[in-house]
Amino acid sequence: MSFDEPNDGRERVRVFVTGTCDGVGKLRESLESHDEVELVGHSEQVQDGAGALTGGHIAVVLHATRGETLPTNELAAIREYTRAPIVLVASMGSGALLEEALESDVADVLLLPQLTENVVFAIKKAGHAGRRVQTQSGKRGRVVTVFSPKGGTGKTVTATNLAAALAKHQNKRTLLLDLDLQFGDAAIMLGIEPEKTIHDLVSAPGELDAEKVAGYITQHDCGLDVLPAPLRPEDAELVTEAKLGRLLEVARESFDVIVVDTSPFFHGPMLATLDRTDELLLLCSLDVPTLKNLRLALQTLDLLSFPKQRVRIVLNRSNSKVGMKPNEVEGALGMKVRFEVPSDRAVPLSVNRGNPVVLAEESADVSKAIKQMAKELFPTPKEEGKKRRFMRPAMARS
Ligand SMILES: Nc1ncnc2c1ncn2[C@@H]1O[C@H](COP(=O)(O)OP(=O)(O)O)[C@@H](O)[C@H]1O
Ligand SMILES: [Mg+2]
Repeated sequence: MSFDEPNDGRERVRVFVTGTCDGVGKLRESLESHDEVELVGHSEQVQDGAGALTGGHIAVVLHATRGETLPTNELAAIREYTRAPIVLVASMGSGALLEEALESDVADVLLLPQLTENVVFAIKKAGHAGRRVQTQSGKRGRVVTVFSPKGGTGKTVTATNLAAALAKHQNKRTLLLDLDLQFGDAAIMLGIEPEKTIHDLVSAPGELDAEKVAGYITQHDCGLDVLPAPLRPEDAELVTEAKLGRLLEVARESFDVIVVDTSPFFHGPMLATLDRTDELLLLCSLDVPTLKNLRLALQTLDLLSFPKQRVRIVLNRSNSKVGMKPNEVEGALGMKVRFEVPSDRAVPLSVNRGNPVVLAEESADVSKAIKQMAKELFPTPKEEGKKRRFMRPAMARS
């Protein structure tokens, strides 16, 4: 559910089309070439679009129907995957359809044929309304997800240190969420002994709201708030996709940043997280199996229609002398390495002491690299000002 800003600064609304009716093929073609819409994909059967609908940052679903009444089953199927606003297009409208739509959570109904501009207007209007609902409180924290398809690449080291750096050095209200639900070790790396975990939070009765989340958080000395993984692997499955989606939405209202540590799998809660992820840090190292799996992960993200401009490649242990160079990684992935984190003996030492290296050894190269990452991802207002001034000549040219 998001708007992506292309380079020209105009917002393009990410749309996914489901269902079918007369004229929808032509409509899709016109939307495809429209500069205010990004047509992410389409599937006649709602279920076939599950990946993109769940994890693809869809701002609006355009559902086409042939029936003369509200396609309740298909709308319910869409709602299984996303809460994005739905615009209905129909080829055979009837009074009943419009009447029923009024009572449903459909944002708009259009009878085809229509001018493309009318459809685009309805899409934009639905998208804006959807976005307003999400930001009722006026605050919207950003979700940074740290992922790699392989264990041991440094996800937890990166997530814990980045989160600590954001809390301590960038002064951001930061939540670290451990989504390695079976074998999460973020709490151990931070040296905290949590009494409550994400499992306790999602299985507690009643509505999940900001106040409740606050009651299940463990705070680290550096000011970082942590929601640890369940203590027992078998409790992982209670953390469902829907619960996690709700948790992230609530957390966004009270935190500036939510850093999510993950396991090397694309499971349901991970898809719900991807759908709300603003920055996806993909961790990589200088070894062939990791690169191979990372290429597969990039393909999967593509299948899920995850927006590529949100992916940042992080090369961990970038200075290891192992017969492979960072530029070979870029060649193999077809993407630039955005951040490099060197290998440092201080890391395993700090892991074993349960004290993040950015706090324990602030001047180590690895700490500098992670603090710099925090700064570039979330500049303080002062740094932001500097960056803008620096960028102005380039912007004036375009
Ligand atoms: N930059 C680094 N320098 C030295 N050791 C590292 C570095 N990054 C990770 N490690 C070591 O690798 C181990 C595995 O990292 P971890 O973050 O637990 O991986 P993952 O969460 O991806 O499974 C850690 O215990 C840590 O000691
Ligand atoms: Mg880990």
